[in-house]
Amino acid sequence: MSIHISANKGDIAETVLLPGDPLRAKAIADNFLTDAVCYNNVRGMLGYTGLYNGKRVSVQGTGMGMPSLAIYVNELIQLGAKRLIRVGTCGAYNGDLNIGEIIIALSASTDSNINDHYFPGASYAPTASFNLLHKTYEAAKSEGLNVLVGPIFSSDIFYQDDPKHYEKWADFGILAVEMESAALYALAAKHNVEALAILTVSDSLVTGAIASAEEREKNFLKMATLALGQA
Ligand code: HPA
Repeated sequence: MSIHISANKGDIAETVLLPGDPLRAKAIADNFLTDAVCYNNVRGMLGYTGLYNGKRVSVQGTGMGMPSLAIYVNELIQLGAKRLIRVGTCGAYNGDLNIGEIIIALSASTDSNINDHYFPGASYAPTASFNLLHKTYEAAKSEGLNVLVGPIFSSDIFYQDDPKHYEKWADFGILAVEMESAALYALAAKHNVEALAILTVSDSLVTGAIASAEEREKNFLKMATLALGQA
């Protein structure tokens, strides 16, 4: 039994979807899984295992930010997870991105020092698992789902002091900002498991646009289906 996840080896599937919001974990279990069992409610951070098209899959809330996600990802890996797919939202740094677009994060630069203790004095480049990325991209294409693959930024700060903070990152090709993937990619690499982040654009730092609750819901379910297909 681990500290933050009240589960034992065998309770978790090899493929785990990771929404930040635990209620999104419940929504995925309710909408898509059959025979779903809730294995975790510690701190309200819901986790379920069930079947999707006959394949076993888990879905575990991670909370917001890299420290929180890292706790759940460490414990999931100890519990036998082999494929970790974050399903979340991001803020656009690129002015051409529209609300609702789906981004697959190729890499995740960060302002966090969460990975620095591994490589003092150097800058590690957290990167998606190519195999998982390739399979997900091909699945999206065959479903006629428009996805953009590119680099993102994982920040410790939601409310930046400087509203133009995004510009430098955008100049270097960064598509969008969120708060988790750099830790996910580094932990997966360290433990030799696969990881991918699939994100929908929920707001734009460039235009100030914000998704409505209905748009968020619709886009989230689209992204969840794409991720579940990887089980
Ligand atoms: N900033 C950081 N994380 C986010 C954002 C944002 O604008 N939107 C969704 N996740």
